[in-house]
Amino acid sequence: WCLLITYYVRMLILNPLCLFLPADGWKSRWVQSKHSSDYGRFQLSAGSFYGDEEKDKGLQTTQDGKFYALSTRFQPFSNEGENLVVQFTVKHEQGIDCGGGYIKLFPAELDQGDMHSESRYLIMFGPDICGTGNNYVHAIINYKGNYHANNKTIRCRINKLTHLYTLIIRPNATYAVKIDNQLVTSGSLEEDWDFLPPKRIKDPHARKPRKWDEREKIEDPNEKKPEDWEDFALIPDPEAKKPSDWDAEMDGKWEPPLIPNAKYKGEWKAQIIDNPNYKGEWVHPIIDNPKYKADAFIYRFHNISVLGLDLWQVKSGTIFDNFLLTNDEVFAEQFGNETWGATKVTGPGREPEKQMKEKQDEEEKQRQQLEKERKAKEEAEGAQEDEEEEEEEEEWEVVSEGNWGEATELREEKEKGKQEEQGGEGPGEGKDEL
Ligand SMILES: *[C@@H]1O[C@H](CO)[C@@H](O)[C@H](O)[C@H]1NC(C)=O
Ligand SMILES: *[C@@H]1O[C@H](CO)[C@@H](O)[C@H](O)[C@H]1NC(C)=O
Ligand SMILES: *[C@@H]1O[C@H](CO)[C@@H](O)[C@H](O)[C@H]1NC(C)=O
Ligand SMILES: *[C@@H]1O[C@H](CO)[C@@H](O)[C@H](O)[C@H]1NC(C)=O
Repeated sequence: WCLLITYYVRMLILNPLCLFLPADGWKSRWVQSKHSSDYGRFQLSAGSFYGDEEKDKGLQTTQDGKFYALSTRFQPFSNEGENLVVQFTVKHEQGIDCGGGYIKLFPAELDQGDMHSESRYLIMFGPDICGTGNNYVHAIINYKGNYHANNKTIRCRINKLTHLYTLIIRPNATYAVKIDNQLVTSGSLEEDWDFLPPKRIKDPHARKPRKWDEREKIEDPNEKKPEDWEDFALIPDPEAKKPSDWDAEMDGKWEPPLIPNAKYKGEWKAQIIDNPNYKGEWVHPIIDNPKYKADAFIYRFHNISVLGLDLWQVKSGTIFDNFLLTNDEVFAEQFGNETWGATKVTGPGREPEKQMKEKQDEEEKQRQQLEKERKAKEEAEGAQEDEEEEEEEEEWEVVSEGNWGEATELREEKEKGKQEEQGGEGPGEGKDEL
């Protein structure tokens, strides 16, 4: 299941691991860009935990803090009048801190040897993670030369296990995104990307009339402040007398001290009444946007011909695999089941990859515990005064290594709990291979 399969219309499975070629076979199908001399290297690996050591081999990033630029070419095709399904698996087994986990589809004219981050692409799809807040599944689409990001936020699965990402674009301009063969979002291309200007806009020629009165209540204009209204809170004390020894030259002009005004009535306010001229809030008239022109072909791409991994990773170790391009949604789901599903989630409570990882984590914890005990013993025998400090450091190390992904794995467990027993044993190899 690594070569072109012909009896499904336009279906490509680009598995880096080909059963009929030597392990290095992927190198003849994938082209390393030479645009920069400093691109990170990929290797074929199933990683440090997996469901099946052979079947789970994929392209793994191996160098930290590098750009990667690798691509593979196939017969150009257009998805006109048909579904386009883009699917692959990605596993951030290193616990990615910041980096891409997406693929790009390029048109035929891409020079693979010179592919770089500015190379024109048609679709960019997949997870992108940086820090804790920034995790998005991108579905960026090139429409008439401009890139448009999906405007509905889709979150990635953040843990160290393999996940299956699927983008479906249909000729009726609807789309769906699935993660691990479960629908996470769907809708209309036109509504969830801003390819086209809005259908309806505020009439640019309409203006609120100057006399339009939006005040619901007003002060009664016919009311007047009574003449005898006392609105000074303080008045000069009428009984105060200038002291006899007041020297105007030395002390300045004498002023009587202020005392509270007994007749003070507070600030005068006219009564509030309903505004007889009130017209309600002015509503800007909405009209059809003259710039809007429906396009029945926003879903369509010509000459889709290269699949590329063009990314940046701070911490390497990500494994990409099971790339699939097809026009058949059901087949894609089945293929997902038979590749990702067959080695990752084989039934309720049977998740070989996850279980292998948990076993390793448990062993690592024990190893660290033993190490800690050994050190503590050593220190107890040696200098007494350094002990406290070192132990503190040690504990911090354990916590920081152990906590990654624990919360997300909890969430994961909840989700996976729902999964049912699935039929089929591995990919229908004999039938599908060439
Ligand atoms: C688009 O096509 C899909 C699959 O054929 C169908 O399920 C969906 O209802 C269609 N949506 C619209 C808006 O035509
Ligand atoms: C999504 O697109 C609509 C229509 O173009 C726009 O009004 C809205 O602000 C966008 N939302 C986001 C989150 O970008
Ligand atoms: C597809 O590629 C071929 C060969 O490069 C080119 O002749 C043709 O114009 C392209 N079609 C479109 C629609 O870009
Ligand atoms: C894929 O597996 C799920 C879960 O076992 C199952 O519900 C679904 O029907 C399968 N899909 C296909 C196309 O075989």
